[in-house]
Amino acid sequence: MTSSRRSFLRSLGVGTAAGVAAHWSLGEVPAANAAEPATAKGSDGFIHLDSNENAYGPSARVAQAIRSALGKVNRYPFRKYDEVTAQIARFHRVKPENVLFACGSTEILRVAACAFAGSGRQLIQAVPTYEAIAGYAKAVGSEVVSVPLNRSFAHDLEDMRARTNASAGLVYICNPNNPTSSLTPREEIEDFVKRSPATTRVLIDEAYHQYVVRTGTYASFIDKPLNDDRVIVTRTFSKVYGLAGLRLGYAVAAPTAIEEMRKFLTADSLNAIIAEVVGVALDDVAGVAESVKRNSDQRQEFLNSSNIRSLKPIDPHANFVMVDVQHPVEQVIEHFRQHNILIGRRFPILDTYMRVSLGTPAEMVAFWKAWDLLPWSHKMIHRM
Ligand SMILES: Cc1ncc(COP(=O)(O)O)c(C=O)c1O
Repeated sequence: MTSSRRSFLRSLGVGTAAGVAAHWSLGEVPAANAAEPATAKGSDGFIHLDSNENAYGPSARVAQAIRSALGKVNRYPFRKYDEVTAQIARFHRVKPENVLFACGSTEILRVAACAFAGSGRQLIQAVPTYEAIAGYAKAVGSEVVSVPLNRSFAHDLEDMRARTNASAGLVYICNPNNPTSSLTPREEIEDFVKRSPATTRVLIDEAYHQYVVRTGTYASFIDKPLNDDRVIVTRTFSKVYGLAGLRLGYAVAAPTAIEEMRKFLTADSLNAIIAEVVGVALDDVAGVAESVKRNSDQRQEFLNSSNIRSLKPIDPHANFVMVDVQHPVEQVIEHFRQHNILIGRRFPILDTYMRVSLGTPAEMVAFWKAWDLLPWSHKMIHRM
């Protein structure tokens, strides 16, 4: 960070976090016709570091495409279905029959649970992990088997394999994992898939894929496929693209799996704005690179600030960080709430860990100011 930027940030107090707002604005579009631009403080007065959103919103190019799409919102986007599927397929160099898009990747998780879990078929997952699929699996009568992460906060695939028999309809692997921001090594997942029963589907959730710094231990299962019909990979436009509010996610999988999931999809859930914007977002290589760079700078800043305070976060690979605060996390969540900052919820079984989504620099200044007001935060420095 440049020194001028640092002194600018220093001049900002908790109450002025909104000063560094997202870089997109509505331009000439009358505010009554469209959503307000993202600001550091939400309209509810809170700084949102709780939902792993992209604090900056979409790139300038995508924001322009959103503005241009406003003229289409009175029409159903029926005619765009094939085009959106084709755009995603082209981006990943797969066939359209390998792609299913939905109202956020949350809807993909729901239809996967409906198609492959259910009564008499288990869902195998880690704990803690992103909880949505477990809720849907239970709702369709599935038993959910939750296997604690291992000591490196990776999926314990040995133990998960031991629990995976022919009645396991679906295995959920979140990589990077939410809430721990940790990675599970690629070769362990490959080995797990190869040794899974023929009837078990393995869903790999890559919601945070773009934020991972590529190393030998990580490669996307879309970019480097296993060519195994049991694998389903999910992605979303909610994170690196900054489009959580426009609700689009998708699965890449074998056509048979796609068709089984499609049966449970909400009809006509595509919205007219994202239908116009998706091609621009996928094309916007520079916008994604900027978003990734900003996140990795913020992530490094967070690690530096943690280090000064002798905090030891789990090595983060996404746009959020998980830190052991050695106190019941509910107290910490409440403390931040009283300072108008929302951080992540409690994630059993890591009851003393707080999950913090990375915000703008000003938001993070506000976060650390509030942290330093915790009555025991200074004592921790000496204890750790
Ligand atoms: C791991 C993971 N998967 C899926 C989702 C759902 O994303 P969306 O429905 O916005 O695509 C989230 C949201 O935070 C997530 O953390």
